[in-house]
Amino acid sequence: MLLRKLVAGNWKMHGLSSDIDEIQAIAAAASDYPEVDVALCIPAILIERAVRAVPGLAIGGQDVHHSDKGAHTGCTSARMLVDAGATLTIVGHSERRDAQRESDAAVKAKAEAALGAGLNVILCIGESIEVRDSGTAIETVMTQLGGSLPQSLCEEGELALAYEPIWAIGTGKTPTSDEIEEMHAAIRGKLLDRFGSDGGQVRILYGGSVKPSNAAEIFSIPEVNGALVGGASLKAADFMPVIAAAAGS
Ligand code: PGA
Repeated sequence: MLLRKLVAGNWKMHGLSSDIDEIQAIAAAASDYPEVDVALCIPAILIERAVRAVPGLAIGGQDVHHSDKGAHTGCTSARMLVDAGATLTIVGHSERRDAQRESDAAVKAKAEAALGAGLNVILCIGESIEVRDSGTAIETVMTQLGGSLPQSLCEEGELALAYEPIWAIGTGKTPTSDEIEEMHAAIRGKLLDRFGSDGGQVRILYGGSVKPSNAAEIFSIPEVNGALVGGASLKAADFMPVIAAAAGS
């Protein structure tokens, strides 16, 4: 099935009010490619300003708490993101799974909370270099996926997966096309097992050192329905060719 490509930027802990100009430049670039869904996941504190500046661009958060509200110092709920104008959020990024010790069960709860609040969700999974080298990447990611997937797709928001090998994030290294194809096919199989034919509608993004020079090749791989882009999403000049590659694929 041909799914619309989704290209999402992950700004991580980058972005000040002085970067709204860059967000506007990205929104302008995205509007040239209406056949691609473009989103930008930025620091929560910048969301409201970005939404005001670029009402046509999907703006998202990078994490969400599983509770609606309560005594959780420093955390942000899905309703708060929605209230700020966000339409999506990342959950389960490997940097949070590692530094914040987020388990698969915690990621699942976050995904369910976000979908229930009406946010679209990009749920991240991916293996370490040790796992890749040991030859158990597929089974490890399948276990992670099984534990992280929301109970159902029948929520207000829409789910996407992002396969991001940890060793490819911010390193300039990427898996071979065959390795990406093999993993995405396995993810699709698991989604179909879990959700029946609805699992065929869930977009599977690739993430990890996507940049202008490799984007076209990555988007040509079967079952790659888009990308989650870190470093190359910070500047419109880098992000635009990635969006263009998605449009041309
Ligand atoms: P990168 O990051 O594109 O800088 O490798 C991707 C991500 O962490 O989502």
